[in-house]
Amino acid sequence: VAPVTIAIDGPAGAGKSTVAKRVAERLNLMYVDTGAMYRAVAYLCAQEGIDVNSECAVEAVLDAHRVSFEEGEDRTLQVLIDGVNVTSRLRAPEVSALVSTVAAHPRVRQLLTEWQRAFAERHSVVMDGRDIGTVVLPHATVKVFLTAAPEERARRRQEEYRRMGYEVPLDEMVKNVIERDRKDSERAVAPLRMAEDAVRIDSTDKSIDSVVDEIVQLVENAH
Ligand code: C5P
Repeated sequence: VAPVTIAIDGPAGAGKSTVAKRVAERLNLMYVDTGAMYRAVAYLCAQEGIDVNSECAVEAVLDAHRVSFEEGEDRTLQVLIDGVNVTSRLRAPEVSALVSTVAAHPRVRQLLTEWQRAFAERHSVVMDGRDIGTVVLPHATVKVFLTAAPEERARRRQEEYRRMGYEVPLDEMVKNVIERDRKDSERAVAPLRMAEDAVRIDSTDKSIDSVVDEIVQLVENAH
């Protein structure tokens, strides 16, 4: 049987990772967080003091280190750099600040896109990101475009940061989220946009559970 592929795209803080993880648990699929892959590159650049605006410098640092992705015990993607698991460090504000610049480089995208496709050929997956339904998995079984109002998305990100021990004022968070969406939407290669055959879900006033139910229903209807 061909693997089931569920693509969940949308702007920062729409709830993609929480929802994708739960959908994966419900349907017993693997959850692949493609944002973590771009974050891994940004994290490595930050560690090595690389100018993220230079695609050559970013490529060179990738060549010099071993970045690998594997399935963790909880069926979520784990990111290893030179054999060290860095997954829990990838959502820090300093990584978020660099990631959209790194993700705009075509050769970085090509590398990660190939890996993502290869993974979806071997596993049934729920994959979340910005270009999954449009570029990475254009034939996905179900495509969802998950959005929410910017203030709500900023509030959720602020909550997430607070749990990690960072205190960021809400107005700053709103600015960060909007700026990242702008960069992700305006880049030349694989910009953030809704696939024509995606289902749009606005999570502003919805609980996580109801969004998860809605997506599971879409998957069941697709069979
Ligand atoms: O989803 P998350 O916030 O972790 O994504 C971090 C960043 O990685 C995004 O803002 C975007 O710049 C980049 N990204 C991307 N394509 C994807 C997933 C993430 O460009 N498929």
